[in-house]
Amino acid sequence: MKRISEVKMIEFNEFGDERGQLVVVEENKNIPFDLKRVFYIYNSDEGIVRGNHANLETEFVLICVSGKAKVKVLDGIESKVYELDGPQKGLYIPKMVWKEMYDFTKNTVLLVMASELYNENEYIRNFDEYLEKNR
Ligand code: TYD
Repeated sequence: MKRISEVKMIEFNEFGDERGQLVVVEENKNIPFDLKRVFYIYNSDEGIVRGNHANLETEFVLICVSGKAKVKVLDGIESKVYELDGPQKGLYIPKMVWKEMYDFTKNTVLLVMASELYNENEYIRNFDEYLEKNR
């Protein structure tokens, strides 16, 4: 099944003035799901690849609140690379899309918002198994 077409960049509104910038994320307003979980990734070196999984149930929005990272998404038919290089950009990833995060910079803090609580049973961490389940 093709899922890459549902992956999309979200350009958040920035509320900026002489004091600096502010970005707001609200469930079902500028992200397309109920927000149940937030986590963040930092101190990942340049050569590191994180992710390498798909989720049976969870949808995500990823924001590089500091630094940069690349995100490769695959669905077994197509793949696409997105660059997260500013805190006003978010990447929406629906369920059952394989994802890899890499090219972290020293100061990268990758904020991840998720539609479900953590449940290891809904993570698919083997690509062949993912391809089998995504047919
Ligand atoms: P992992 O899924 O490997 O992170 P990434 O998606 O960046 O590759 O998670 C790393 C560890 O953290 C692993 O032991 C599971 C744990 N973890 C939780 O307990 N809760 C969570 O919400 C997440 C995302 C991970």
